[in-house]
Amino acid sequence: MPSGERAGGAGNALVPQHIAIIMDGNGRWAQARHRPRLIGHRAGARAVKRCVEFCLRRGVGALTLFAFSSENWERPTDEVSGLMKLFIGALDREVDELHRLGVRLRFIGERERFAASIRERMQHAETRTAGNARLHLNIAASYGGRQDIARAARELAGEVAAGRLQPEQIDAAALAQRVALSDLPLPDLFIRTGGELRISNFLLWQLAYTELWFTDALWPEVDAALLQTALDDFARRERRFGLTSAQLRPMGEGSQA
Ligand code: IPE
Ligand code: IPE
Ligand code: MG
Repeated sequence: MPSGERAGGAGNALVPQHIAIIMDGNGRWAQARHRPRLIGHRAGARAVKRCVEFCLRRGVGALTLFAFSSENWERPTDEVSGLMKLFIGALDREVDELHRLGVRLRFIGERERFAASIRERMQHAETRTAGNARLHLNIAASYGGRQDIARAARELAGEVAAGRLQPEQIDAAALAQRVALSDLPLPDLFIRTGGELRISNFLLWQLAYTELWFTDALWPEVDAALLQTALDDFARRERRFGLTSAQLRPMGEGSQA
Protein backbone atom coordinates (compact mmCIF):
# COMPACT_ATOMS: atom_id res chain seq x y z
CA MET A 1 0.00 0.00 0.00
CA PRO A 2 1.11 3.58 -0.60
CA SER A 3 2.61 4.85 2.61
CA GLY A 4 3.78 8.38 1.81
CA GLU A 5 2.07 10.98 3.92
CA ARG A 6 1.57 14.69 3.82
CA ALA A 7 3.94 16.26 6.28
CA GLY A 8 2.24 18.01 9.14
CA GLY A 9 3.52 21.53 9.65
CA ALA A 10 6.28 21.61 7.05
CA GLY A 11 4.11 23.02 4.27
CA ASN A 12 2.48 20.64 1.87
CA ALA A 13 5.58 18.74 0.84
CA LEU A 14 5.36 15.01 0.48
CA VAL A 15 7.85 13.67 3.00
CA PRO A 16 8.77 9.98 2.91
CA GLN A 17 7.76 8.10 6.04
CA HIS A 18 10.53 5.59 5.59
CA ILE A 19 13.88 6.12 3.85
CA ALA A 20 16.26 3.24 3.10
CA ILE A 21 19.86 4.07 2.23
CA ILE A 22 22.83 2.20 0.78
CA MET A 23 25.69 4.19 2.26
CA ASP A 24 28.29 3.53 -0.42
CA GLY A 25 31.57 5.19 -1.32
CA ASN A 26 33.50 5.31 1.97
CA GLY A 27 36.49 3.46 0.53
CA ARG A 28 36.72 5.65 -2.56
CA TRP A 29 36.37 8.79 -0.45
CA ALA A 30 39.41 7.73 1.57
CA GLN A 31 41.39 6.55 -1.44
CA ALA A 32 40.91 9.93 -3.14
CA ARG A 33 42.62 11.43 -0.08
CA HIS A 34 45.37 8.80 -0.08
CA ARG A 35 44.13 7.51 3.24
CA PRO A 36 43.29 3.97 4.37
CA ARG A 37 39.74 2.78 3.63
CA LEU A 38 38.93 2.70 7.33
CA ILE A 39 39.32 6.48 7.50
CA GLY A 40 36.50 6.58 4.96
CA HIS A 41 34.33 4.35 7.15
CA ARG A 42 35.00 6.65 10.09
CA ALA A 43 33.96 9.67 8.02
CA GLY A 44 30.93 7.61 6.98
CA ALA A 45 29.91 7.27 10.63
CA ARG A 46 29.87 11.07 10.91
CA ALA A 47 27.61 11.22 7.85
CA VAL A 48 25.24 8.79 9.60
CA LYS A 49 24.84 11.33 12.40
CA ARG A 50 24.05 14.11 9.93
CA CYS A 51 21.52 11.85 8.24
CA VAL A 52 19.79 10.93 11.52
CA GLU A 53 19.63 14.61 12.51
CA PHE A 54 18.13 15.44 9.12
CA CYS A 55 15.44 12.77 9.46
CA LEU A 56 14.54 13.96 12.96
CA ARG A 57 14.25 17.54 11.71
CA ARG A 58 12.14 16.61 8.71
CA GLY A 59 9.82 14.28 10.60
CA VAL A 60 10.82 11.13 8.73
CA GLY A 61 9.50 8.24 10.82
CA ALA A 62 11.85 5.45 9.82
CA LEU A 63 15.38 5.27 8.46
CA THR A 64 17.02 2.01 7.41
CA LEU A 65 20.75 2.15 6.77
CA PHE A 66 22.76 -0.55 5.00
CA ALA A 67 25.91 -0.69 7.12
CA PHE A 68 27.33 -4.10 6.27
CA SER A 69 26.12 -6.70 3.79
CA SER A 70 26.22 -10.50 4.09
CA GLU A 71 28.78 -10.35 1.28
CA ASN A 72 30.96 -7.72 3.00
CA TRP A 73 32.27 -10.47 5.35
CA GLU A 74 34.45 -11.56 2.42
CA ARG A 75 36.40 -8.28 2.39
CA PRO A 76 40.05 -8.28 3.58
CA THR A 77 40.29 -9.30 7.24
CA ASP A 78 41.76 -6.01 8.38
CA GLU A 79 38.90 -4.03 6.84
CA VAL A 80 36.30 -6.33 8.43
CA SER A 81 37.94 -6.18 11.86
CA GLY A 82 38.32 -2.40 11.56
CA LEU A 83 34.62 -2.10 10.76
CA MET A 84 33.75 -4.26 13.79
CA LYS A 85 35.78 -1.95 16.04
CA LEU A 86 34.02 1.00 14.49
CA PHE A 87 30.60 -0.57 15.21
CA ILE A 88 31.57 -1.18 18.83
CA GLY A 89 32.84 2.38 19.25
CA ALA A 90 29.73 3.86 17.64
CA LEU A 91 27.39 1.77 19.79
CA ASP A 92 29.28 2.71 22.96
CA ARG A 93 29.31 6.40 22.06
CA GLU A 94 25.97 7.08 20.40
CA VAL A 95 23.23 5.01 22.04
CA ASP A 96 22.64 7.35 25.00
CA GLU A 97 22.28 10.38 22.74
CA LEU A 98 20.00 8.52 20.31
CA HIS A 99 17.86 7.46 23.24
CA ARG A 100 17.69 11.06 24.46
CA LEU A 101 16.51 12.13 20.99
CA GLY A 102 13.69 9.57 21.00
CA VAL A 103 15.26 7.22 18.46
CA ARG A 104 14.40 3.53 18.52
CA LEU A 105 17.34 1.44 17.34
CA ARG A 106 17.01 -1.95 15.72
CA PHE A 107 19.35 -4.26 13.86
CA ILE A 108 18.35 -6.47 10.97
CA GLY A 109 20.49 -9.21 9.48
CA GLU A 110 22.21 -12.42 10.49
CA ARG A 111 23.16 -11.42 13.99
CA GLU A 112 24.64 -14.81 14.86
CA ARG A 113 27.58 -14.06 12.58
CA PHE A 114 28.78 -11.26 14.88
CA ALA A 115 31.01 -11.74 17.91
CA ALA A 116 29.26 -11.87 21.29
CA SER A 117 30.67 -8.43 22.22
CA ILE A 118 28.76 -6.87 19.32
CA ARG A 119 25.60 -8.95 19.74
CA GLU A 120 25.40 -7.88 23.38
CA ARG A 121 25.74 -4.21 22.46
CA MET A 122 23.05 -4.56 19.79
CA GLN A 123 20.73 -6.19 22.29
CA HIS A 124 21.45 -3.49 24.87
CA ALA A 125 20.81 -0.70 22.34
CA GLU A 126 17.52 -2.28 21.27
CA THR A 127 16.31 -2.84 24.82
CA ARG A 128 17.36 0.63 25.94
CA THR A 129 15.53 2.41 23.10
CA ALA A 130 12.57 0.04 22.71
CA GLY A 131 10.09 2.57 24.12
CA ASN A 132 10.99 5.33 21.64
CA ALA A 133 8.96 6.12 18.57
CA ARG A 134 10.13 9.48 17.17
CA LEU A 135 12.43 7.84 14.64
CA HIS A 136 12.85 4.13 13.95
CA LEU A 137 16.52 3.74 13.07
CA ASN A 138 17.17 0.32 11.58
CA ILE A 139 20.73 -0.76 10.96
CA ALA A 140 21.13 -3.51 8.35
CA ALA A 141 24.26 -5.34 9.44
CA SER A 142 25.30 -8.72 8.06
CA TYR A 143 22.11 -8.24 6.08
CA GLY A 144 21.19 -9.71 2.71
CA GLY A 145 17.82 -9.39 1.01
CA ARG A 146 17.97 -12.93 -0.32
CA GLN A 147 18.86 -14.27 3.12
CA ASP A 148 15.96 -12.28 4.58
CA ILE A 149 13.49 -13.83 2.12
CA ALA A 150 14.99 -17.30 2.62
CA ARG A 151 14.57 -16.96 6.40
CA ALA A 152 10.95 -15.91 5.96
CA ALA A 153 10.36 -18.93 3.68
CA ARG A 154 12.00 -21.20 6.27
CA GLU A 155 9.65 -19.86 8.95
CA LEU A 156 6.65 -20.54 6.74
CA ALA A 157 7.92 -24.07 5.99
CA GLY A 158 8.27 -24.65 9.73
CA GLU A 159 4.69 -23.54 10.32
CA VAL A 160 3.45 -25.86 7.56
CA ALA A 161 5.47 -28.75 9.02
CA ALA A 162 3.97 -28.04 12.45
CA GLY A 163 0.47 -28.15 10.96
CA ARG A 164 -0.29 -24.52 11.80
CA LEU A 165 -0.43 -23.37 8.18
CA GLN A 166 -1.65 -24.83 4.88
CA PRO A 167 0.63 -24.48 1.83
CA GLU A 168 -2.27 -22.73 0.05
CA GLN A 169 -2.11 -19.99 2.68
CA ILE A 170 1.38 -18.99 1.59
CA ASP A 171 0.97 -15.81 -0.41
CA ALA A 172 2.67 -12.43 -0.71
CA ALA A 173 0.99 -11.20 2.47
CA ALA A 174 2.23 -14.22 4.45
CA LEU A 175 5.80 -13.58 3.31
CA ALA A 176 5.52 -9.84 3.88
CA GLN A 177 4.70 -10.52 7.53
CA ARG A 178 7.92 -12.47 8.02
CA VAL A 179 10.60 -10.44 6.25
CA ALA A 180 12.56 -7.80 8.16
CA LEU A 181 10.78 -4.60 9.25
CA SER A 182 7.33 -6.06 8.63
CA ASP A 183 5.89 -3.86 11.38
CA LEU A 184 6.99 -0.61 9.68
CA PRO A 185 5.65 1.12 6.58
CA LEU A 186 7.52 -0.04 3.49
CA PRO A 187 10.37 2.25 2.38
CA ASP A 188 9.00 5.15 0.32
CA LEU A 189 12.39 6.37 -0.80
CA PHE A 190 15.60 4.46 -1.48
CA ILE A 191 18.85 6.39 -1.73
CA ARG A 192 22.19 5.03 -2.91
CA THR A 193 25.30 7.16 -2.77
CA GLY A 194 28.59 6.34 -4.48
CA GLY A 195 27.39 6.29 -8.09
CA GLU A 196 26.60 2.59 -8.52
CA LEU A 197 23.18 1.85 -10.00
CA ARG A 198 22.33 -1.37 -8.21
CA ILE A 199 20.56 -2.80 -5.16
CA SER A 200 23.45 -5.02 -3.96
CA ASN A 201 21.16 -7.46 -2.09
CA PHE A 202 19.59 -4.77 0.10
CA LEU A 203 15.85 -4.97 0.96
CA LEU A 204 14.80 -6.96 -2.13
CA TRP A 205 11.27 -7.71 -1.01
CA GLN A 206 10.59 -4.42 0.71
CA LEU A 207 11.72 -2.21 -2.21
CA ALA A 208 9.15 -3.51 -4.71
CA TYR A 209 7.43 -0.12 -5.06
CA THR A 210 9.99 2.16 -3.45
CA GLU A 211 11.10 5.27 -5.34
CA LEU A 212 14.79 4.93 -6.22
CA TRP A 213 17.24 7.84 -6.06
CA PHE A 214 20.92 7.60 -6.93
CA THR A 215 23.74 10.09 -6.52
CA ASP A 216 27.43 10.13 -7.41
CA ALA A 217 28.17 11.81 -4.07
CA LEU A 218 30.20 9.53 -1.81
CA TRP A 219 28.60 8.66 1.53
CA PRO A 220 31.04 10.69 3.70
CA GLU A 221 30.10 13.78 1.66
CA VAL A 222 26.40 13.51 2.46
CA ASP A 223 24.82 16.49 4.18
CA ALA A 224 21.37 17.97 4.76
CA ALA A 225 21.40 19.84 1.43
CA LEU A 226 21.94 16.63 -0.55
CA LEU A 227 19.29 14.74 1.42
CA GLN A 228 16.88 17.62 0.85
CA THR A 229 17.51 17.33 -2.90
CA ALA A 230 16.45 13.69 -2.69
CA LEU A 231 13.32 14.62 -0.74
CA ASP A 232 12.43 17.37 -3.21
CA ASP A 233 12.80 14.91 -6.06
CA PHE A 234 10.66 12.37 -4.20
CA ALA A 235 7.93 14.96 -3.65
CA ARG A 236 7.66 15.43 -7.43
CA ARG A 237 7.20 11.75 -8.21
CA GLU A 238 3.90 10.15 -9.01
CA ARG A 239 3.66 6.77 -7.33
CA ARG A 240 1.17 4.76 -9.30
CA PHE A 241 1.51 1.28 -7.76
CA GLY A 242 0.42 -0.22 -11.06
CA LEU A 243 -2.59 2.05 -11.54
CA THR A 244 -3.08 4.79 -14.10
CA SER A 245 -2.50 8.46 -13.41
CA ALA A 246 -6.20 9.21 -13.78
CA GLN A 247 -7.11 6.62 -11.17
CA LEU A 248 -4.91 8.30 -8.62
CA ARG A 249 -6.39 11.78 -8.92
CA PRO A 250 -9.47 12.93 -7.10
CA MET A 251 -12.49 13.56 -9.36
CA GLY A 252 -12.16 16.63 -11.54
CA GLU A 253 -8.47 17.14 -10.91
CA GLY A 254 -6.17 16.59 -13.88
CA SER A 255 -8.83 14.93 -16.01
CA GLN A 256 -7.77 13.70 -19.42
CA ALA A 257 -10.21 15.98 -21.29
C1 IPE B 1 30.24 1.33 1.96
O1 IPE B 1 31.39 1.87 1.44
C2 IPE B 1 30.43 0.80 3.36
C3 IPE B 1 30.49 -0.67 3.46
C4 IPE B 1 30.23 -1.51 2.49
C5 IPE B 1 30.86 -1.21 4.76
P1 IPE B 1 32.44 0.99 0.65
O2 IPE B 1 33.44 0.45 1.63
O3 IPE B 1 31.77 -0.03 -0.19
O4 IPE B 1 33.14 2.08 -0.25
P2 IPE B 1 33.58 1.91 -1.77
O5 IPE B 1 32.37 1.50 -2.53
O6 IPE B 1 34.65 0.89 -1.81
O7 IPE B 1 34.07 3.28 -2.16
C1 IPE C 1 26.58 -2.28 -0.42
O1 IPE C 1 27.78 -1.72 -0.84
C2 IPE C 1 26.65 -2.62 1.04
C3 IPE C 1 26.75 -1.50 1.98
C4 IPE C 1 26.75 -0.22 1.68
C5 IPE C 1 26.82 -1.86 3.36
P1 IPE C 1 28.91 -2.60 -1.54
O2 IPE C 1 30.04 -1.68 -1.81
O3 IPE C 1 29.20 -3.80 -0.72
O4 IPE C 1 28.18 -3.06 -2.88
P2 IPE C 1 28.81 -3.47 -4.29
O5 IPE C 1 29.89 -4.48 -4.02
O6 IPE C 1 29.35 -2.23 -4.91
O7 IPE C 1 27.66 -4.01 -5.07
MG1 MG D 1 31.07 -0.02 -2.08
